[in-house]
Amino acid sequence: MTAIVVLTGAGVSAESGLPTFRGPDGRWEGHRVEDVATPEAYARDPVLVQRFYDARRAALARVGPNPAHAALARLDRDWPGAFLLVTQNVDDLHDRAAAEAGVAEPRLVHMHGELTSALCGRCGARQRWTGDLSGAPDCPCGGRLRPDIVWFGEMPYAMDRIDAALSACDLFVSIGTSGAVYPAAGFVAQARAAGAATLELNLEPSAGSYLFAETRHGPASRLVPAWVDDMLARA
Ligand code: APR
Repeated sequence: MTAIVVLTGAGVSAESGLPTFRGPDGRWEGHRVEDVATPEAYARDPVLVQRFYDARRAALARVGPNPAHAALARLDRDWPGAFLLVTQNVDDLHDRAAAEAGVAEPRLVHMHGELTSALCGRCGARQRWTGDLSGAPDCPCGGRLRPDIVWFGEMPYAMDRIDAALSACDLFVSIGTSGAVYPAAGFVAQARAAGAATLELNLEPSAGSYLFAETRHGPASRLVPAWVDDMLARA
C-alpha cells in the first residue's frame, strides 16, 4: 500500500479567506515578514508582535475549512496505508476538518507551530491558547508566554517524524506552497532520493515545480478533492 506524505502551505487555506505570505506586494497583512516573524522582532517590539498574532488568532473564528481541507481529512480517515500530513500553516483548518470528518487522531504535524498554542519563552512549555496573548499572565515558571510559532531562524517542530516519513514514502504531494522556505522546500528532493513519486498541486508553478515528476495547476479546492477521490477509488 502506497505510503503518502502530503505537505501543505498557505495556498490550501487561501480559499478559506486567509491571505498567503508572498502576495504581490511582498508583505504579510501589511507587515514585512522580518518585522513580525523573527525572534529579533519579538525582542525589539513584543507588543507589536503579540498584537499581530492576536489578530491572526482572532481571524480563525471568522473562517472555516474549505473542500481541500475536507478532502485531506477524508484521505487521512480512509487511507489504509501510511500517511502523514505535514503543514507549514499555523491556522487550525486541517485540525477542524479532521474533527468534522471524525478523525480521532489526525496524522498531522504543524511544523511551523500553531496559532492556537502558547509557548513559554523560558521553560518551553506549550499550552492551548485561543484568546489574546497580549496582557496574558506569565507561565507558572515566571517566563513570558509568546506565540507558539516557529519564526525565521528557529527549528521547525517534528523534524524526526517528518524525516522518517519522507524516507519511507512512495508518494510525496505538495499543495499550495511556494517552495521558498526551507527545510520544507527540500522535502521533494528528500522524497525523490527515497524513490517516491512526486506531485505538485498549486495555483501556479512554484519555485521548485521542476523538481516534481507531475504538476497540476489550479485552485486547491478543485484539485485536491479530485486527487483524493482518485486515490481513494484505487485504495
Ligand atoms: N490553491 C492552490 N494554491 C494556491 C492558492 C489556491 N487557491 N492560492 C495561492 N496558492 C499558492 C500560491 O501560488 C503560492 O505558490 O500557494 C502558495 C503560497 O505561497 P506562500 O505565500 O509563500 O506560502 P507558504 O509556501 O506556505 O510559505 C511558507 O513561509 O513565512 C513563512 O512560515 C511561513 O509557513 C510559511 C512559509
